[in-house]
Amino acid sequence: MKKFIYLPALLCVCIAASVRAQTAKLTVDLSKNAHEVSSKLYGLMTEEINHSYDGGLYAELIRNRIFKDNAETPEGWSVVQDAGGKGSIQLIGANPLNVPRDQKRNAINDALTTCLKLTVDKSEGRTGIANEGYWGIPIKPQTTYRASFYAKGTDEAAGALQVSIESNDGTIVYASGQVNMEKGGWKKYELQLTTAADAKPTTKAHFVISTKRPGSYYFNLVSLFPPTYNDRPNGNRIDIMKLMADMKPTFLRFPGGNFLEGDYFASRFPWKTTLGPLEERPGHPGCWSYRASDGLGLLEFLEWCEDLKIEPLLAVYAGYVLQGDHTDAGPLLKPYVDDALDEIEYVTGDVNTKWGAKRAQDGHPAPFKLSYIEIGNEDGFDRSGSYDGRFAQFANAIEAKYPNLHCIATIGGRDPLGTRGKLTIRKPEVVDEHYYRNAYEMEEDASHYDNYDRNGFKVFVGEWATREGAPTTNMNAALGDAAWMTGMERNSDVVIRSCYAPLFVNVNPKTDKTPRAWQWDSDLIGYNALTSYGSPSYYAQKMFGTYLGDNVVQTTGENIPTQTRPATKRDSASGVMPKPFPALFYVSTRDSKTGIVYIKVVNTTGLPQRIAINLQGAAKVGAEGTLVVLKGKDRTDTNTIDEPEKIVPVTTKIKGIGKTFTRVFDPYSISVVQVQTN
Ligand code: AHR
Repeated sequence: MKKFIYLPALLCVCIAASVRAQTAKLTVDLSKNAHEVSSKLYGLMTEEINHSYDGGLYAELIRNRIFKDNAETPEGWSVVQDAGGKGSIQLIGANPLNVPRDQKRNAINDALTTCLKLTVDKSEGRTGIANEGYWGIPIKPQTTYRASFYAKGTDEAAGALQVSIESNDGTIVYASGQVNMEKGGWKKYELQLTTAADAKPTTKAHFVISTKRPGSYYFNLVSLFPPTYNDRPNGNRIDIMKLMADMKPTFLRFPGGNFLEGDYFASRFPWKTTLGPLEERPGHPGCWSYRASDGLGLLEFLEWCEDLKIEPLLAVYAGYVLQGDHTDAGPLLKPYVDDALDEIEYVTGDVNTKWGAKRAQDGHPAPFKLSYIEIGNEDGFDRSGSYDGRFAQFANAIEAKYPNLHCIATIGGRDPLGTRGKLTIRKPEVVDEHYYRNAYEMEEDASHYDNYDRNGFKVFVGEWATREGAPTTNMNAALGDAAWMTGMERNSDVVIRSCYAPLFVNVNPKTDKTPRAWQWDSDLIGYNALTSYGSPSYYAQKMFGTYLGDNVVQTTGENIPTQTRPATKRDSASGVMPKPFPALFYVSTRDSKTGIVYIKVVNTTGLPQRIAINLQGAAKVGAEGTLVVLKGKDRTDTNTIDEPEKIVPVTTKIKGIGKTFTRVFDPYSISVVQVQTN
């Protein structure tokens, strides 16, 4: 009997002792500023993937507005035949929009060469063309949409054209208006369409232009814009811009990614034909399985930066294409180098330069500030070794003309792609490293930058993500991301810039008729035509970007719990079993102006973690602090388009803060403890 009394008691004592022995401890030594935090540590990366712009950020609602998406069929368009109306639609190539491109070239437009012909056979009922939009036209109450299009027709077709936004089943007309199509050649028609205050939000709507007269009608550049961010003409969606602004990013890397390179030389990012009026933009074949309208072109990328008050980080095409072809350094590469110099001049040149003047003509006389230029993208894929010469030729030419610009190389780093090649001709000042991994891999390698050479190259982590969850990431991904960010932040003397990728995803799933809208799983911000949301990874980024001091404070951990990942095939092939690695991650920064210390703690375990925090070297510590927590109920917990705010950071005031205090950190959580010091 005695045994039964004493054994459990003994067990309790042992467990308590072991828990006590294992209570984690963080010592934040405020007398030891490790180094300054890079002022541009957290930024954004973007390219046309997952319908990032067309069907995404770019507010245009009409899909295939210049009829070039598919040479065989008018994709996105259908014929409307109501109450006895009868007609047909077909693509007409070589029927260019011969409106003047500019004063000097009052001739053929070589950008808009295909149009849509509507043949109306019968005058009863109505006949017209309908556009399905990008997975629907978003209906919002009391909203004014700007519609415009070019049209012409046979003489009997001249007269009223009805323009409307209607429900897909045809039972509701949300907004409608008329224009009077004149006889003769191409002419632009414009009108505004306003929905009623009681219109119910939906994406189940389409855009219609219809008539009651027989004849032949031709249409081109059909456009419909809702209100845009900062009211910019040809601008961006308000909701998605706000999500980005909330992240407090510091720069935007564009236009890719693979979208910069293209599959072939002829389909690389054609910055010159992305400029000027939409009538001059032919679009180009993207590399992510759909055509890019280039409505969001070079100037729009720059204005996106301007709207978010951030700096552009321009990537220039450097002579390698995704299908594996390249141009060797030397005279054949020179046109590409010259093209990059022109592009930089468009961005930064004053109005007396050729390309600065073009920018002014496009509506933006003021030059943009640019400090970093990336030469190419992921040139580790180029197995020929040509990047050594290509990088040197580009960097030498850029440095000669723009000595204040810093050139970023895409190989030479310690990421898997970077180690595929060597730069021998010219040492890079900054190297772009890319990391796409699962959560275990991110957490296991979270101290990746701790022992980088402080006298070597600086690192731009130009693409990185924990790839778990689709289309947007889940809580486990956010934990992996946060663990990785503690490492980048702690080493932000080496890691001077970083940006997650991909940024955007249109989340419309596969249907019987259409493929899913995205090409790449695990993205940061999701949306459909109507609404948008941030993934748990988005909120982790937002927390890291928002709660950031200007100095890294030395923080040491003791009794940090560990985890061991399951063995992979590669482990068993190499005969090495995985070793334990931390399950709790941390970093501290201090704002030298306010004295606020931000202690970030990532608990990747399913258990609450008690941590004793010791603030050394602070004269005074406020008794109250602020705690921001992002947590999930399990690893796969996530946000979706239907449940957009299931996982969001929660802010509370906390008491009992002092030079030493203890807090329990929730399972599967990312926390920022803010403490006032002086
Ligand atoms: O982010 C998606 C793709 O991943 C990028 O286009 C490319 O640079 C990388 O391989």
